[in-house]
Amino acid sequence: MRFFSDGNRRSSAPALLTLTVLFLFSFFIRHTIAWRPWPNQKNNATELEFGSNKKYEGSSEFVKLKYHMGPVLTANITVHIIWYGTWQSSQKRIIRDFISSISASGHRSPSVSGWWKTVQLYTDQTDSNVSRVVHLGKEKNDRLLSHGKTLTRLSIQSVIKSAVTAKTKPLPVHPKGGLYLLLTADDVYVQDFCQNVCGFHYFTYPSIVGYTLPYAWVGNSAKMCPGVCAYPFAVPDYMPGLKPLKSPNGEVAIDGMISVIAHEIAELASNPLVNAWYAGQDPSFPVEIADLCEGIYGTGGGGSYTGQMLSDKDGATYNMVGIRRRFLVQWVWNHVVNYCTGPNALD
Ligand SMILES: *[C@@H]1O[C@H](CO)[C@@H](O)[C@H](O)[C@H]1NC(C)=O
Ligand SMILES: *[C@@H]1O[C@H](CO)[C@@H](O)[C@H](O)[C@H]1NC(C)=O
Ligand SMILES: *[C@@H]1O[C@H](CO)[C@@H](O)[C@H](O)[C@H]1NC(C)=O
Repeated sequence: MRFFSDGNRRSSAPALLTLTVLFLFSFFIRHTIAWRPWPNQKNNATELEFGSNKKYEGSSEFVKLKYHMGPVLTANITVHIIWYGTWQSSQKRIIRDFISSISASGHRSPSVSGWWKTVQLYTDQTDSNVSRVVHLGKEKNDRLLSHGKTLTRLSIQSVIKSAVTAKTKPLPVHPKGGLYLLLTADDVYVQDFCQNVCGFHYFTYPSIVGYTLPYAWVGNSAKMCPGVCAYPFAVPDYMPGLKPLKSPNGEVAIDGMISVIAHEIAELASNPLVNAWYAGQDPSFPVEIADLCEGIYGTGGGGSYTGQMLSDKDGATYNMVGIRRRFLVQWVWNHVVNYCTGPNALD
């Protein structure tokens, strides 16, 4: 997820002007390409249909994605999960299956591993690509909410610290290919959740955690805002007449989280320290490879139109298959062809 600012905000007029211009720039990108039914944006419900927009997968001459010389994740990637709060094992299985599907082979097309091929197109200064291998690592349960039911961007780092320094079975620390995925249960509120984020990624500070570790947070929106963060499997109240789509694994909020988790892992791989691949002039406002394609799941997608997806005999909507399951996952920006691509493209 784009945007994480924590530098000191200067208040001189030129800096404010720059920030305003950057804000408008990212606002423009979000509104023309990336789409989610955010509550504070007045969407015109009569324009919102699943099958009407003919915009072409985010293709835009305005997108200037650049490489800023920092590392990408070229070593085998290991995703360590922290389950914060109460999670059912059926929910955990869906999420684990998705992560394990990223580098699984032998699935019919369109596959999750086919989706990851776009992420593998990103390289570092030595022309090494993002790793093909993504493993599911160790897991930590923080069932009793060690840092409370409301987390800030900063206290999230303390949750990660608790997990990597726990007395029993701490999560392993390997700064090379290790990613830390904090998943919060449906009764946990994280700063800005539902307002303008469903998840985000950043890296930990050595002063708090002891290491610089790339991490992401994704929330379970079931109780707070499924119409935003589990869209299109749920729709917001202000969009009457639009029917939610049937989710592929029977868990609206979890099926919605899958695409957000995919979004964050793709961005972590291509921009783990927020100094590699992003668009925009300011690293405090990076627009990254998944931000550019938010809401796009198939050919023709753009604006509020999701693009062409697949539907199964049971009526569920998805766009790729993996281990044991089907998933609906947004596409990511392909810098070789300059538009969003995914494994279910029709051309
Ligand atoms: C919503 O969009 C429709 C179709 O484009 C248009 O006719 C209508 O005036 C719009 N309503 C508002 C409130 O903008
Ligand atoms: C990376 O993963 C592959 C596939 O699982 C494995 O064969 C290889 O040994 C791993 N490399 C390292 C350095 O761990
Ligand atoms: C590595 O990235 C380059 C540049 O995007 C691309 O041409 C190549 O196909 C990629 N290799 C793999 C294995 O994805």
